[in-house]
Amino acid sequence: MRGRNIVVVGAQWGDEGKGKVVDLLTKNVGAVVRFQGGHNAGHTLVISNEKTVLHLIPSGILHDNVDCLIGNGVVLSPSAVLDEIAQLEARGVEVRERITLSPACPLVLSYHVATDIAREKARGSEKIGTTGRGIGPAYEDKVARRGVRLGDLYHGEGFATKLADAMNYHNFMLEKYYNAATVDFQQTFDETSRLAEEIEPMVGDVGSVLHDLNSRGENILFEGAQGALLDIDLGTYPFVTSSHTMAGAASVGSGFDSSRLDYVLGIVKAYSTRVGAGPFPTELFDAVGRHLADKGREFGSTTGRPRRCGWFDAAAVKRVVKMTGLSGLCMTKLDVLDGLETIRVCTKYEGSDGESASTRFGSEYYSELSPLYEDLPGWQESTAGARDLKDLPENAQAYIRRIEEWVDAPIAMISTGPDRHDTIVLTEVLGK
Ligand code: IMP
Repeated sequence: MRGRNIVVVGAQWGDEGKGKVVDLLTKNVGAVVRFQGGHNAGHTLVISNEKTVLHLIPSGILHDNVDCLIGNGVVLSPSAVLDEIAQLEARGVEVRERITLSPACPLVLSYHVATDIAREKARGSEKIGTTGRGIGPAYEDKVARRGVRLGDLYHGEGFATKLADAMNYHNFMLEKYYNAATVDFQQTFDETSRLAEEIEPMVGDVGSVLHDLNSRGENILFEGAQGALLDIDLGTYPFVTSSHTMAGAASVGSGFDSSRLDYVLGIVKAYSTRVGAGPFPTELFDAVGRHLADKGREFGSTTGRPRRCGWFDAAAVKRVVKMTGLSGLCMTKLDVLDGLETIRVCTKYEGSDGESASTRFGSEYYSELSPLYEDLPGWQESTAGARDLKDLPENAQAYIRRIEEWVDAPIAMISTGPDRHDTIVLTEVLGK
């Protein structure tokens, strides 16, 4: 017997409400695994009116008896992970016995943050709008093969040498290229060494743990961060994050057999949002945009920045469905559309059938494509908290059916409010 394995990814630009969906599905799994990103992510969970924001620790942690793992594809800030553990412990959630951190996680340390901030400043009006957490520079170090990894912390001399090499590089760039303050080696070494001791009992071989869980028949949930359109290769480059956010990353980012991934659930908001700079063809700057921002409380959970809001972009999601192979979708925040007279959906872009589109998708030139919309009638009734499809107004049901057709994927779940119970389940993606 082996367990069933599901990957949950954002199918837009992040902030689709993955945390709630992961939390809901966790009741049917033995483990939840993060496989990419770092503490740039922000997963907001509301359980019995209590709000918890997680950045690094898998959303499954709030369920007893569920193992939580952080795979090698995640860039790990030792201070961020310990802060988050302390916050959870203060709420009575036991973490240390249930979490495994891969020794192959590249570390995010203070010099990465300094480089991230200096680089954004230097880009001026061309800045990416990063979360300022040092994520990009940490991934750069990994690819440049100068990264310091979690496992290095337990090899005394090796750690000192690797840290010195990496910091020499960063401090040179900070001082000579960015004209910014450098970061002190000894302080970084001492602080990180101190944190290393506290982290050590949690370090383990994530790939083997996953393999064993699977062999014992446990279901495993792979929890994506950010969204498919922020993928480093396939997103709106260079306005992207520095990791692979597509479902394929679940395997290489955790050391788990890709042929054993059974289902990919893509999370989409009923409209679109984006934080930071970059193309967003369906962005709204009018009263409807404000309606979405206000009613959807669209502020970043990591940085508090206001999110840009716009209509649902079915053309973009359809591309994601094709590229990452979404088995089904969960649509979130449907209730935010309540009360709108007309709802627009971008179904394709002007000229997108032509050759010119191929160089624009997956790049910053994507913004040059003009969306073509179809209008659907809105609904005045409240959908907030609906738990059955037949409780939704007819126009809301029609909206869902049309989106399924446009993006070419079935909608398996609909979220109608922040609480885990405010959900309509159309397909049991994990079974019982
Ligand atoms: P970085 O990941 O901090 O380098 O930021 C790169 C881009 O990804 C910026 O546009 C960020 O706003 C965006 N980003 C990073 N993490 C998230 C997230 O969890 N939700 C939404 N956008 C994110």
